[in-house]
Amino acid sequence: MMKILHLSDLHVEPVGKLAYARANTARRMIELTEWLAHHKDEYDAIAVSGDLSCDGNIDSYHLIDAIFRSLPKPCFMVPGNHDRRKPFLECLSHFCPNVYSPENLSFSVDLGAYRLFMLDTLQPGIHWGALPDGVLDWLEAELKNTHKPSLVFCHHTPVKPGMGYMDEPFGNGDRFIEILSRQQDVRLCTGHLHRPVATLAKNKVAVVTAPSVSLQMLLDLTPKGGDEFVFETPGYAVHTFLDDGWVTHFGQFPFPSDFSGPYPFVNTINPDA
Ligand SMILES: [Fe+2]
Ligand SMILES: [Fe+2]
Repeated sequence: MMKILHLSDLHVEPVGKLAYARANTARRMIELTEWLAHHKDEYDAIAVSGDLSCDGNIDSYHLIDAIFRSLPKPCFMVPGNHDRRKPFLECLSHFCPNVYSPENLSFSVDLGAYRLFMLDTLQPGIHWGALPDGVLDWLEAELKNTHKPSLVFCHHTPVKPGMGYMDEPFGNGDRFIEILSRQQDVRLCTGHLHRPVATLAKNKVAVVTAPSVSLQMLLDLTPKGGDEFVFETPGYAVHTFLDDGWVTHFGQFPFPSDFSGPYPFVNTINPDA
């Protein structure tokens, strides 16, 4: 049974700097390293769905590289809105092989009887995501020739979650969902929402969102929601293919969490290009 560990939204800052002036995400990476080593027999590969860095700084990518490079399992990554493509690719290219182009780091890999698609939805300086037509043309052609159950990972979720500020557009979202809906045994796995969320896009495509490794979004289903974090227990998802298709489980990391907050993401939600 193939088990894909899904991590998201690490928001790493270098040692000595707190994310959003409160979260010690560099220390969180030490905790994560220990957990990944201790549980290495419980997953076959790792997919990280973006916001690896808090603002795309090179030191955070060096830290991430050191952690994931030492693991004995394959690991694949795509950027999120808090990442920057150039330093991301400079430091982490071995986790994103054969990318579509330097301007869009989408790629696909075979994992035995399964296929992973890692899609880059980053738009520099913009909080919400998009997939360019060229990438969707490539995805459409790849899926047509793929006869394996597939997981499609990207940072942004092409479904409005009812959380105020996170109810964002998704460029080319309708075409993206339409392409996925023509494929059997496909599941879309995302991040960005910093909460475990499950839905069916356009009533056709199963979408699951992994919680954050570092900061959980306050569950506020009002128009002012989606812009504050809380120190709830961090988590992950595990995707596995069984007789009835893809099944997703959510787990929690045993990292110290004092449930304090909410705190604002203020002034840091849209990093510069
Ligand atoms: Fe994030
Ligand atoms: Fe994000």
